[in-house]
Amino acid sequence: MNLLAEQGGGEERKARQHAAGKKTARERIEMMADPGTFREIDKLVTHRNYDFGMEKKKIPGDGVVTGYCRVHDRLVYVFAQDFTVFGGTLSRANADKIVKLQQLAMKMGAPLVGLNDSGGARIQEGVESLAGYADIFYNNVRSSGVIPQLSVILGPCAGGAVYSPALTDFIFMVRETSHMFVTGPEVIRAVTHEEVTKEELGGAHTHSSRSGVAHFSGENEEQTLMMVRELLSFLPSNNMEDPPVKPGADPADRRDPDLTAVIPADPNKPYDMHEVIQRVIDDHHFLEVQPHYAANIITGFARFGGHPVGIVANQPATLAGVLDINSSAKAARFVRFCDAFNLPLVTFVDVPGFLPGTSQEFGGIIKHGAKLLYAFAEATVPKITLITRKAYGGAYDVMSSKHIGADVNYAWPSAEIAVMGPEGAINILYRDLDTPEQKAQAVEAYRQTFANPYKAAALGYIDEIIPPADSRPKIIDALEMTRNKRITNPVRKHGNIPL
Ligand code: HXC
Repeated sequence: MNLLAEQGGGEERKARQHAAGKKTARERIEMMADPGTFREIDKLVTHRNYDFGMEKKKIPGDGVVTGYCRVHDRLVYVFAQDFTVFGGTLSRANADKIVKLQQLAMKMGAPLVGLNDSGGARIQEGVESLAGYADIFYNNVRSSGVIPQLSVILGPCAGGAVYSPALTDFIFMVRETSHMFVTGPEVIRAVTHEEVTKEELGGAHTHSSRSGVAHFSGENEEQTLMMVRELLSFLPSNNMEDPPVKPGADPADRRDPDLTAVIPADPNKPYDMHEVIQRVIDDHHFLEVQPHYAANIITGFARFGGHPVGIVANQPATLAGVLDINSSAKAARFVRFCDAFNLPLVTFVDVPGFLPGTSQEFGGIIKHGAKLLYAFAEATVPKITLITRKAYGGAYDVMSSKHIGADVNYAWPSAEIAVMGPEGAINILYRDLDTPEQKAQAVEAYRQTFANPYKAAALGYIDEIIPPADSRPKIIDALEMTRNKRITNPVRKHGNIPL
């Protein structure tokens, strides 16, 4: 029986799976887990369906492999849908296996990784299959913020089936072989007469760059599963634990004199904020989340002195680093993840403000921008902020300012903290200045008075103006000082984040 379960849908279906450029469920688990650590449970479970002659077709395990393993020697629960068995479709029995795993993961306080590759609801089981999905969704929601939940899409994931991954913390996809959509190309053609391919509609590229549904995408399954391992290395097993410390060789007191040269002399010239991040974190090692979506804000994981943190940073090299609908929502969700899992937030600020325009206003930038404001304000983890250059208008408040609870706020001498930039301010304050010379003079006077960090520092809104070279030791200092931070938000059922 055990052997039968391990054969899944048989050699022919396995060969078909390989020919499609995909691995089998067991091969995938082997790739993700530390070697030899996977322990399977419910290997002999079969479906309980008697319609459509299904009673004659039973394969032990029934289309999903479930169990637990170790990743970097830490406990991780994993399920892998087996496309070679009834197309990996969800039967009642199959859903029960996943629910059992979800409950175990919650009880033991360990992450749950789902490897998805399925034709969706098993048609022969009707509403029992839909019930199974709903049970999984319910447990996804109950686990949210308690254990990390990761979803890896390694084949089709369509219809309501997309909502389990959507409820989890991070979605991984693979180029060309994984697809997610609520309704597929045929339905779209029939309903809206649009022509679109599977890959255009719901491939890794689309969801990583356009919809923002996916957080990571890999070239192939192996690379994607290595990214899963890497992400897990930054995360605690549950919300009651601190993230795992990984001491490295990078000295905590390492200064970097070249940081000064990263910012161009002209305040309107862009630069790549990645360079600042890479230069200050441990070993230049940054795991970026959603690198190709809303690139005007950077989110990702790094370590300082071996301790994992979440990084949020405006990116002046894309759209001048403005906050818009997509970047606000992207960063807000990331901030909330970090807060749920005890990851301190280190924020790098260079933001000219919110993006003007009717498409932004009609799209609801007011409520979407409020998400990021809400997320930073509600976060109780240590919050360290460094303003490298611009911090203008409402965006100054939003980007983890002192006023919404940041613990340590640094600025470089190049920081400009004001209601708006010099040109905009002068146009409003002195409408009647005639000559360009007069205007230039007024702009320069404004720059001297406001476009610097000294007013904010005089008011205690900035704790310290630091030389760029000292950024790493200063951030590590601040993280050490805030390590035992314990604050709680007022008791309530839950807040009401503007969705
Ligand atoms: C039962 C299914 C099935 C399904 C596939 N199979 N989907 N069996 N219920 N939903 C079976 C096939 O009959 C086949 O069995 C085997 O799985 C492999 O499928 P193929 O079609 O041969 O594979 P492929 O050509 O790679 O195509 C895969 C596919 C296609 C794109 C997933 O099978 C497909 O479109 N299936 C229907 C998908 C669908 O509409 N699902 C419902 C979505 S809505 P044999 O024995 O011939 O090998 C949904 C609602 C969720 O899921 C609701 C949650 C609230």
